Amino acid sequence: MGAGIAITGCGSAAPEAILTNNHLAQMVETSDEWINTRTGMRNRHIASATESLSQLSAVAAENAIAMAGISATDIDLIILATSTPDDMFGSACKIQGLIGATNAVAFDLTAACSGFIFALITASQFMRTGVHQNVLIIGADVLSRWVDWSDRASCVLFGDGAGAIVCQSIAESDRLLGFEMYSNGSQNDSLNLNYHSQSKPLVENITAQHGTYQPVSMNGREVYRFAVAKVPEAIGKAMFRANLTADDIDWLLLHQANQRIMDAVAKRLKIPSEKILSNIAEYGNTSAASIPLSLDAAVREGKVQVGDTIAASGFGAGLTWGSAIFKWGY
Ligand code: ACO
Repeated sequence: MGAGIAITGCGSAAPEAILTNNHLAQMVETSDEWINTRTGMRNRHIASATESLSQLSAVAAENAIAMAGISATDIDLIILATSTPDDMFGSACKIQGLIGATNAVAFDLTAACSGFIFALITASQFMRTGVHQNVLIIGADVLSRWVDWSDRASCVLFGDGAGAIVCQSIAESDRLLGFEMYSNGSQNDSLNLNYHSQSKPLVENITAQHGTYQPVSMNGREVYRFAVAKVPEAIGKAMFRANLTADDIDWLLLHQANQRIMDAVAKRLKIPSEKILSNIAEYGNTSAASIPLSLDAAVREGKVQVGDTIAASGFGAGLTWGSAIFKWGY
């Protein structure tokens, strides 16, 4: 007990429908050329009425569990990182039921696009203390439900998807080498999905605030500046803790918000651009799903090999940002 951590499986799932840049040009004043040169995006996948966050997550989770070579009943903790649960009370338990992980405790964690990294670090605390041994971490979002489809500055960026990993306790050589987590609420206004309400009088002197969430609002330039400044710092600190330099990093696995952000972060860290794992052209920004979606593609393509050192970083609303450096596989 008090074990090390190994990431032994990954999986992903995305909705079937693909919304292209040319489709978006039919909806708002934009072009394939503008979107692609400013973001690197070409497609994004959009969930239909029958593709729920829970269902996509369950597929991603089952693929990750199969790759790890264990069964769903071996899982003892599930953390779902999401900002768009099917149910405001949380969707982790629904997923637990769908995959039959009957021995797991399950809960949601919300930290926007940093959610997956925050969930991995949270899971590591339960594992290092010996409380849990086989942990399923899911990053999933269906932001298409909450995007303002008439706002060209934000609607071109987001897509839907789910990704998952399995972390297992190992007796020796912890493969989670370093991590960092940060928040800055003073910049909370840069990126929001706020609740808007109307007064609903109940009885004399008591009025409930009844409403719904409003579309994503974002100051793109501010978020861009924040990401390019803070992400290299967070990865640099985690590398320092892990006693590693940029030369030791095999792959840079960043939240897929913008190809230009990924390129700028790699440049600041002096990591060659060939080491950036990117699938932004196909999926756009899938929020908490983007890191495990990208990892899963790279593992299944045979790009990422057992023992490779990966520097990962998530960043987004909150504002929040964090990094984790780990060796893939066991
Ligand atoms: N098509 C055509 N023109 C557009 C579009 C569009 N889709 N969107 C904006 N423009 C216009 C603007 O109106 C502006 O026009 P103006 O100069 O006449 O005012 C011009 O393009 C330049 O706009 P900028 O906002 O300066 O464009 P920029 O180069 O910064 O790119 C972008 C915008 C892509 C949003 C970029 O700022 C970015 O990626 N920011 C980071 C966003 C991000 O990462 N968000 C997610 C965080 S993750 C989370 O927590 C959910």
